[in-house]
Amino acid sequence: MNIVLLGAPGAGKGTQALRMEERYKLKHISTGDIFRQHMRRQTEVGNLARSYIKKGQLVPDDVTLKIVSIALEEAGNKDFLLDGFPRNTRQAEMLDELVKIDKVINIDVDKAVLTDRICGRRSCVECGYTAHISALNGSACPKCGCEMVQRMDDREDTVRDRLRVYEEQTAPLIEYYGAKGILVNVDGMGSPEEVFAEIGKVLG
Ligand code: AP5
Ligand code: MG
Repeated sequence: MNIVLLGAPGAGKGTQALRMEERYKLKHISTGDIFRQHMRRQTEVGNLARSYIKKGQLVPDDVTLKIVSIALEEAGNKDFLLDGFPRNTRQAEMLDELVKIDKVINIDVDKAVLTDRICGRRSCVECGYTAHISALNGSACPKCGCEMVQRMDDREDTVRDRLRVYEEQTAPLIEYYGAKGILVNVDGMGSPEEVFAEIGKVLG
């Protein structure tokens, strides 16, 4: 089954994707993670992406579509889980031309908690593990011991812009996939385990 995870910044897409990848043996494709890898390696794509990501804007569609096509090719015959893509109607239409999507899971979280979740998030520079600052003991990653840092787009002013971009460009996809009859809404306000249990009810 090929799945798209929808949700506002901070809704918990990445958190659930890691669990889903393991349980359902899916290939996890996160456009945000791919851009961050490119930025770390300072590739041409990474340098271009950085100029948009630091302002909370979407990276241009042609660049994003290219990296998604490559990732889908790499997935081969394996079922996949898209996290952070598509993010606007054009991307969704292009995706429809490339592959068949079976289910879209929209993680629904109250706007009021998103900013706290994002601004409090720390990510490991080495293994990518993320956690809220309140759950960390110091700045070392509990998984690999490397440094946990704040993502450059997780500062409050950038988060405001990301949430605005989400409302304007990504939220309309709820209707887009609803009209296709493949959208399922999941309550994202519980603990990560509770949200995963809700997803489990959808996927079996
Ligand atoms: P991307 O990396 O995709 O970021 P995002 O969509 O803004 O979402 P986040 O990763 O911030 O949140 P999440 O939903 O994954 O939440 P998480 O699980 O981490 O994109 C970054 C940028 O790249 C974009 O702004 C854009 O510039 C560019 N980009 C990416 N894709 C693109 C595309 N398709 N087109 C164009 N540009 C693109 O959780 C957040 C925090 O909350 C964590 O601290 C976590 O521990 C905590 N948390 C999670 N679940 C729970 C819970 N149930 N209860 C309490 N806390 C929780
Ligand atoms: Mg994420």
